[in-house]
This record gives sequence, structure tokens and C-alpha cells, in this order.
Amino acid sequence: MTETESVEPNPTESGGVDLMSPEAAAAPQDIYRRMHKQCPVAHSLSHGGHVITRYEDVLQSFRDHKLFSSEMALHMGLGTERPMIPQQIDPPEQTRYRKILDNQFSRKRMKVLEPIMREQAAELLRTFADQETVEFNKAFAVPFPCRVFLSLMGLPQEDLDLFLEFKDNILRSQQIEPDATKAYYLRAATGKRIYAYFDKAFDRLSEAPEEDSILCYLLTVELDGKKLTRNELLDITFLFLLAGLDTVTASIGCFVSFLAQNPNRRQELVDDPSLIPNAVEELLRWETPVMSVPRVTKRECEISGVTIPENTMVSLQCGAANLDDEEFVDGDTVRWDRKFNRHLAFGGGVHRCLGSHLARMELQIMLEELLKHMPQFSLEPGKKPVYSPGIREVQVLPLKIG
Ligand code: HEM
Repeated sequence: MTETESVEPNPTESGGVDLMSPEAAAAPQDIYRRMHKQCPVAHSLSHGGHVITRYEDVLQSFRDHKLFSSEMALHMGLGTERPMIPQQIDPPEQTRYRKILDNQFSRKRMKVLEPIMREQAAELLRTFADQETVEFNKAFAVPFPCRVFLSLMGLPQEDLDLFLEFKDNILRSQQIEPDATKAYYLRAATGKRIYAYFDKAFDRLSEAPEEDSILCYLLTVELDGKKLTRNELLDITFLFLLAGLDTVTASIGCFVSFLAQNPNRRQELVDDPSLIPNAVEELLRWETPVMSVPRVTKRECEISGVTIPENTMVSLQCGAANLDDEEFVDGDTVRWDRKFNRHLAFGGGVHRCLGSHLARMELQIMLEELLKHMPQFSLEPGKKPVYSPGIREVQVLPLKIG
């Protein structure tokens, strides 16, 4: 569809597009453009609810947490026994927890971790930078965020494989067990193992605290004069595991896949690494690895002329919002010199990503070290990257180095 082609708004269909297909995950940008014009608020079969795509509508929905609630039965399918804290609870409860969590993920606190992160990135890159080819997802994008996470939490690096198994069993259960019932039981069983793992870790750290570890901070911090209960500790750490690994892996994969397919843009960053912080923001906008975020309506409402009933699942399409030309001048172009970039890749409102400073630092260090260790890379001839939907992880990213 061209820019000038006009289409009638159609609120009952998401433009005939299955947003959860691997094809949509590989190249969602054209679909987003079509949705802005054709169905800014649509009913989507693949999401089982309403899909909101325009920047202003998505931003206002994030901000109105009284209307668009995060409390939903969603937690039932993720192997959890209770809602995860703070993502699946609403203010005022959610705000109380953010007060004690925000300082642990501040920009200043993350800066202290920079040398460790840089060494972890360089160590992984050295294992393959002089090879002719590499499958980048397995070699780097998956292990790097997990290693950083273990350091931050004060957990042993030997638990890397166990952690990767945990998060894959929950977030990618249907790729491991195509049968839906078996996948459900895999998630439930893994959920129990995750609770047991952190329960034991908290016992161990109570006996022998690790300096500067977030888990030790959580053991000692007080909320309204009381320490956190063991269930609160487990509901927070369960979320950390699900929120802090796959999201960064997916972002790394999407960024590197883009640079592998756009050699001129890669060369610009090699020639001038001071562009990298802006490139991180622009690639977060363009790629938006977390395509959408769910909410449920607390009452009937009207968004862009479409009535949404009470108690309806709603999908806030961050990816579509980030390409809305009402908000982003020249939004269809990836620009390292973009000045105003209020992208929604980390969400918005009270639930805006707790780990955004950590994620930004990981992505910046990843690009700096990658372009230093292997400045030339492209897709391996005859091979294609394989994307998964939802969180856009590039599950197979075959690169030719040099
Ligand atoms: C590039 C990587 C990341 C992206 C794109 C991302 C994206 C998001 C988004 C869109 C939300 C909003 C969810 C909602 O409104 O329901 C969110 C929330 C959250 N993120 Fe991230 N995230 C990333 C990395 C991380 C990391 C490294 C952590 C570390 C633990 C983290 C922890 C969280 C937590 C705890 C929340 C829930 C906050 C709340 O509900 O108050 N995220 N993230």
C-alpha cells in the first residue's frame, strides 16, 4: 500500500493481519502503517480482544491505569500462582512497590555495573569474532543478558543454563511442546521450579549476603515499616526473570539483524561510535521488540470512535505507535540524528519499564563492543533470520563475519 492510498477505517478486523504470525514478527513495519490507516482500533482474533495502534491513543491508555487495568487472569498462563509484582497489580499497591524498586535500577546504579557488563560482552565476542560465520542468537544474544542478570542479582554464573531453561519453558513453551495442554503443564511445572529456586537463593543469601546484590537488598528493605514477605519476594523475582532476559535478547537480535542487512547504517556507527546512544533509541523505536502490552478495561470506553466494552482485553500496540507519523517526523526512516524520540518501546505511565536504564546500558555496550570486535558482518549468504512473534526474538541469526 502506498502513502497516498486511502482506505476506509474498519474497526472489526485487524486489517486481515495476524499480528502473532512469524511473518508479522519478521517485518511488522508495513503492517503497522496499514493498521494506523485502516483500523486504528480493531478487533483482533489473534489477540482475542481490541488492538489500539495510534501513538496518542496508546500513550493515553498507558496513562489511564484506572480505565486500563493490569490486573487480569493473565498470570494464570505463565506458570505463576499469584500476580507478578509490580506488573500485574494496579496503583496504589503497585506504586508502593515501585518506590522500593526504582532506586535499584536507577541510571546511577547501573553505571557502576558498566565495567562488568563490558567484560562479559567482550568475553563472549572473543569466542567467535575471528570465525567466518556465527549463529549470533545462541552465541551472544541469549547468554549476554542472562550473565548480566546473574551478576546483578548476586547469583552464581553456573546457573546460566538453568535460567535459560526456566525462561524458555515459560515464554517459549509452545515451541518446546506444540501440544497446548502439555505446554500448559510445562509452564506450571517450571513455575514451581522457579519459586523453589528463588526460595533457596533467598535462604542462602540470608545466611551469606552478597555485597551489592539486588536480592540481598530485597531481603532487608522495608515497606511501610515491614520487611517483604517470602511470597512478595518470590512474586517480584519471578517477574525479574521473565521481564529482564528475553526482552534484551530480542532487542539485541533485532538490532544486529537490522545492521547486518543495512551495511551503510552499520558503517556509520563504526565510523562514529558517539552515534550509538541515539542509535539505541532509534532502533528501539523502529524495531520495538516488545510489540504490544495487554490491559483489561474497567468500564466501557470510546477510543478513536470505537466503543470498547467493560472487561475487555486490550492490546496496546507499542510497535505500531512508534511508527505513527502524527508523532514521529519522517517516522518511516531510521535516523541516528532524530532529536525528539518519545518512543513507547518501554511502555508508559505507572508501569513503564523498571529495567529501562539497565536495558539501554546493555544495548549500548553490546553495540560498542560488537562493532569494535567485528566491524564487518552481514547475513550468511542463502540463509535468513528466523523471528518469533510476541516478543520479537530472532531465534536464528546466521551471520557472515568480515
Ligand atoms: C530492551 C529491553 C526491554 C524492553 C523492550 C522492555 C519493555 C517493557 C515494557 C513495554 C514494559 C511495560 C509493561 C506493561 O505496561 O505492562 C516493561 C515493564 C517492566 N520491565 Fe521491561 N523491558 C526491557 C528490559 C527490562 C529489564 C532488563 C528488566 C530488569 C529486570 C525489566 C523489568 C521490567 C519490570 C519489572 C516491568 C514491570 C514494571 C511495572 O509494572 O511497574 N525490563 N518492560
